[in-house]
Amino acid sequence: PLEIKMDEMAQSEAGQKMKIGLYFALWWTLNVVFNIYNKKVLNAFPFPWLTSTLSLAAGSLIMLVSWATRMVEAPKTDAEFWKALFPVALAHTIGHVAATISMSKVAVSFTHIIKSGEPAFSVFVSKFFLGETFPLGVYLSLLPIIGGCALSAFTELNFNMTGFMGAMVSNLAFVFRNIFSKKGMKGKSVSGMNYYACLSMLSLLILTPFTIAMEGPQMWEAGWQTALTQIGPNFIWWVVAQSVFYHLYNQVSYMSLDQISPLTFSVGNTMKRISVIVASIIIFRTPIQPVNALGAAIAILGTFIYSQMDAADPVPVEIGACGTVGSL
Ligand code: 3PG
Repeated sequence: PLEIKMDEMAQSEAGQKMKIGLYFALWWTLNVVFNIYNKKVLNAFPFPWLTSTLSLAAGSLIMLVSWATRMVEAPKTDAEFWKALFPVALAHTIGHVAATISMSKVAVSFTHIIKSGEPAFSVFVSKFFLGETFPLGVYLSLLPIIGGCALSAFTELNFNMTGFMGAMVSNLAFVFRNIFSKKGMKGKSVSGMNYYACLSMLSLLILTPFTIAMEGPQMWEAGWQTALTQIGPNFIWWVVAQSVFYHLYNQVSYMSLDQISPLTFSVGNTMKRISVIVASIIIFRTPIQPVNALGAAIAILGTFIYSQMDAADPVPVEIGACGTVGSL
């Protein structure tokens, strides 16, 4: 009987690994598709506030329909839940719109190289805002992360300050989102999928007035006509694809968080950036110098070293939310 039990355990462990592998493959694929269509849309229609809003609107609509048709059971939420979700949604909104503004100004690969520096922001925020301390190895691993990102930024052929700052603001905002969402999800029975659905809806409410103030229907009208003339009716499908795939990749990433530790998640997130960087350089034929690529490789290697150092941290890791890094 002991042998049978061990056999069952090994089988369920293999099954679990396969499930996680599937989530990761799906998450990266959906993310690559989102990034490609998002950039194609931004190239023809440079309105990042509107496209960010449409991504959240698509997700909200998909989930409202899923709840109404009972394809997904709607979560039971109370005022406390929405109150705790507010800072998460605010940080998610800022991080999302800042990344989209960045990608409207620079190559997708450049935005993601800078975004691979997120662990460094995580450590700084945890140290200076939460008073957490880390083992020396963690601090040392920040050197290649920061150095690699800096090398890549300085040697970027199409450097643009707004593009750079957008990615930096996104890093900072997402670190706060992760800290707040960990607090918000603690002890709640809402699934990863429904948590992300509520997050999309609240973010949509927060973002819409700012989008109208920053861009507005008059600008969209003229831009839309130009894009339609240049691209043809297919342009509408590009917008639909960027919006729907944004929701899907985020939904899968939150679903995978139900299954894995924040540390595994952060390693997965970095590997996701490698696939996006490589795919976008090939598809958009982004000119890239060897020293620029070296910077990206050093930064990404630094993130792996960081995760290894953080894994050695005796502080237990808990399941957090999207992008939660290490023992945050
Ligand atoms: C966005 O638009 O929110 C960013 O592309 C998100 O980036 P990330 O999910 O890869 O951190």
